[in-house]
Amino acid sequence: MYSSESKKLDISLSINDEERSITIRPANTLLYVIREQFGLTGAKPGCYNGDCGACTVDVDGVPIKSCLMLAVEGVGKKITTIEGLKDTPIQKSFVEHFAFQCGYCTPGFIINCNALIQKYPNAKDEIIEEWLESNICRCTSYKEIEEAIKAVITRSEEQY
Ligand code: FES
Ligand code: FES
Repeated sequence: MYSSESKKLDISLSINDEERSITIRPANTLLYVIREQFGLTGAKPGCYNGDCGACTVDVDGVPIKSCLMLAVEGVGKKITTIEGLKDTPIQKSFVEHFAFQCGYCTPGFIINCNALIQKYPNAKDEIIEEWLESNICRCTSYKEIEEAIKAVITRSEEQY
């Protein structure tokens, strides 16, 4: 008979540039493991079905809804959570432009915006708007978030 307890796996995950070992069940989501086992509570459980973006983490440069990814799928990949973006240009720009929103949606937005800037360092409005569609805030507009992104883009353009 199948027993989930007998199917535990020992894996190692690279999270925020640190290799960390953990014992998991194969069915554990990445969201569960980073929050409940590693204690990294920045990624938030919202809808649990890929709609809200509150659980977004960066996996090999791609923003991923961690509620939809199994932890075991993260083996061999570079995972960055909001805790790993402390003092980065985008995190500071969110503060400078009052783009921080509630504690629930902000981490996912910052992760998503950081990945956007890495992939499209010269992103125009269309791309920015398209990327922001993957994260839901039901309270306000995304104007300040867009300004925070543009400020980082403009600053890096000025360096050249
Ligand atoms: S909790 Fe993962 S997208 Fe909402
Ligand atoms: S859901 Fe966070 S401010 Fe609206």
